[in-house]
Amino acid sequence: MRLKPFILGMGLLAGAGVIVVVTAGTGSAAVTRYEAESAPATCAGAIESNHAGYSGTGFCNGDNAVGAAVQFTVSAATAGTATLGIRYANGGTANRPADLLVNDAAGQPATAFDPTGAWTTWTTKTLTATLHAGNNTIRLTATTAAGLPNIDYLAVEPGAGPSAPGRPPECTGSSPIVCHYGVAPGNYTVTAWIGDSAGAGNTSMSVEARRRILPAVSTAAGTITRHQFTVNVRQPEGQPTGQGGTGNPGLDITFAGAAPRLSGLTIQQAANPLAVYLACDSTVCDQPAAPYPGWGQILPTHVTPGTVVANYADSGESSGSFLGNAALFPALKSRIRAGDLVLIQFGHNDKSTTAAAFRSNLTSMINQVRERGGVPVLVTPPVRRLFSGGQLTGTALHVNGAGANLPAEMRSLGSALNVPVIDLTAKSEALVESLGEAGSAALYLRASVDGVTDNTHFSEYGAGRMADLVVQGMRERNLPGIG
Ligand code: GCU
Ligand code: CA
Repeated sequence: MRLKPFILGMGLLAGAGVIVVVTAGTGSAAVTRYEAESAPATCAGAIESNHAGYSGTGFCNGDNAVGAAVQFTVSAATAGTATLGIRYANGGTANRPADLLVNDAAGQPATAFDPTGAWTTWTTKTLTATLHAGNNTIRLTATTAAGLPNIDYLAVEPGAGPSAPGRPPECTGSSPIVCHYGVAPGNYTVTAWIGDSAGAGNTSMSVEARRRILPAVSTAAGTITRHQFTVNVRQPEGQPTGQGGTGNPGLDITFAGAAPRLSGLTIQQAANPLAVYLACDSTVCDQPAAPYPGWGQILPTHVTPGTVVANYADSGESSGSFLGNAALFPALKSRIRAGDLVLIQFGHNDKSTTAAAFRSNLTSMINQVRERGGVPVLVTPPVRRLFSGGQLTGTALHVNGAGANLPAEMRSLGSALNVPVIDLTAKSEALVESLGEAGSAALYLRASVDGVTDNTHFSEYGAGRMADLVVQGMRERNLPGIG
């Protein structure tokens, strides 16, 4: 597997999809990551691993109590300022503030750890602290009865990091802040300084056709956090066939949230990213218009630094039509480089494809990906919400009109050709059936909330859950690119 480009010469901080970075040439030392589940760290609560997306082997689920603390022991070569990145998830609905204590002295009281939307959605809070040479204790102590958020790790980078370069002329507006770079298609490394020296902020990031990069992060006045991620610029920017709109040529970045604050933004061509291509249908694609989100639009929030999601999914495509359309499989294939992943999910539109034809289409894709040195991955299709007698129907489980059990064909093809299979059908079946017919409605589009009822396409929430299941599957298969 190819080396991820940012590891050399750059300091990494924070986790999936988002890092705080020290660009090459600043002479900064590397970042050290201290996992909350590993001694000498301590956790007033339990080490758990039931919410995907953590790094290492688990996270600290602190007791829901005032004073519940997580403590790290951090070694510093020299005395001075350090940048702390605390990776956490808060699936509750309220801020879970904590006091930061450095060597038992109050560092930053009542630091906010805002909700991240789900326990599987991890983000990084960046703070600075003054350390002495040698070992230092860094403790977060909950100040409210809800306790701490779940804490994944602490990353420590000596120095305060490069200062924010200021908001560039490519950005306009204040809420949202919209930035446009007239660049050619390709992959770009984007560094954003979020926050403001003057006032508090709450800022989210998305790019191109509603691709999510970062859930809203809160910054206190005077706190600026750096985030870096890689964006795939295509034209059209959404679906490759232009369904739903072709978007704006170039790279578009939107900072939204309750109070967007941006103190700097730079872009540069990404030399050697690990690409995760998506060869899929409308449940995955970059849907240009609300209310439809594809899970591929949420996947960018989960990938590691230096990994880029290139979403070639397109509405209405079957295994055969995707293979044959020059804008789809052939376009994707020509861009594959050694080690890149190609996630292949079909079924929804293979309503009358025979088992033999389905296997043959998938085999052709697998062989062509391998010809290019890429790594094919089969993803069985997520279930439709069609119940009968408390259970999902055959149609829901993608047994099609020709009698082909499409997920079963993918599983057996995967073992025959030694292709990793992410069984999203089984994972989504378990999720939907455990929630039941009524409870699972929120995963899909509902007229009352989204203006349209659709038991095939997902709500924002449901697409997020599908992305989580795909990430879980990637981790189970030991695939690269996921934090
Ligand atoms: C849930 C969640 C835990 C979390 C807890 C909390 O139980 O599964 O991971 O720590 O809520 O609210 O603190
Ligand atoms: Ca907890």
